[in-house]
Amino acid sequence: QLLADGRFHSGEELGAVLGVSRSAVWKCLRRLEEEYNVELFRVPGKGYRLAEPLSLLSYELSAAALARLGWQLHFRQTVDSTNAEALRLLRSGAAAPLVVIAESQTSGRGRRGRAWVSPASQNIYYTLTLKVFDGPQGLSGLSLVVGLAVLHALRRAGIQNAGLKWPNDIYADGKKIAGILLELTGDPADVCHVIIGIGINVNMTSSAKDIGQPWTSVRAQIGVMADRSALVNFLSEALHCYMERRMHEGFSSLRVEWEANNIWQGKRCTLSTGTREVKGLVLGVDEVGALRLLVDGKEQRFSGGELSLRLDHDS
Ligand code: ATP
Ligand code: BTN
Repeated sequence: QLLADGRFHSGEELGAVLGVSRSAVWKCLRRLEEEYNVELFRVPGKGYRLAEPLSLLSYELSAAALARLGWQLHFRQTVDSTNAEALRLLRSGAAAPLVVIAESQTSGRGRRGRAWVSPASQNIYYTLTLKVFDGPQGLSGLSLVVGLAVLHALRRAGIQNAGLKWPNDIYADGKKIAGILLELTGDPADVCHVIIGIGINVNMTSSAKDIGQPWTSVRAQIGVMADRSALVNFLSEALHCYMERRMHEGFSSLRVEWEANNIWQGKRCTLSTGTREVKGLVLGVDEVGALRLLVDGKEQRFSGGELSLRLDHDS
């Protein structure tokens, strides 16, 4: 936190503020470099500075904003996955609605067990856990509504060119900027919980490796470093508002809004179901959030967790 401003701080000054020796400061900074991959410059006579300033999350600001919504915050510096942490919290008796936010994830995950690249202090790793009362139908359109909420939060952060890709990806400028992972726990026939994981690329730079597809970040889009705490609060408010609308009016009331933000509305796409590929024109979504495709002149509807949509090259 002391170094977050990106300016030089001498070992002596850092040691004095923290009440430790200069060599303890040095050891601590080496851990920062090695364990958290934070790039640090050391200049004799000047001290230490980060290669770039950091926008750190604020527990106080996020907890206060969430408390206003009636949601409880569990903040972690590092965690394997905020979704995994939410599941552990539920199993240890924590009550939903609860939110887990972390500065970094060591095993962030996407759909189908794929890794979600989660460097420290650059992005948002956010999980909201809610109780689901009416079985699987209580989930209809949920992931699409979460996408709308993320889009709304991104717009408040200055991103005007973002859109949604069915079922739950957010793209800006043709590249992935955020992803959503929904996991269900408990007995779907009885009371269960849905764990809604959201990853938003905020200040991540090109130094991020191992991302197997084109990606972007808020910073890359708006050209300046974004305030992560403010974006966390925009996200919480948007989620709360869209969840309320879904609860009172159902997904069908949000369907037109979803289609208006669908990046591939009216385009020719290929849907992979795992066992086969279906080519069709994207008509939109139905009242429960299933994808509507025009295949050989007939409308077909698709839903389920293993489906994946790709834009056809000629579209
Ligand atoms: P689908 O179209 O089926 O949703 P997808 O490739 O968009 O597929 P997943 O199948 O959920 O999404 O897999 C996660 C993908 O996200 C992986 O391809 C991975 O390379 C990519 N990825 C990992 N970390 C990030 C990140 N921080 N930002 C953007 N993309 C990422
Ligand atoms: C996707 O594949 O598009 C979904 C990515 C979801 C990533 C988020 S980051 C917070 C939460 N914790 C995880 O391990 N995954 C989700």
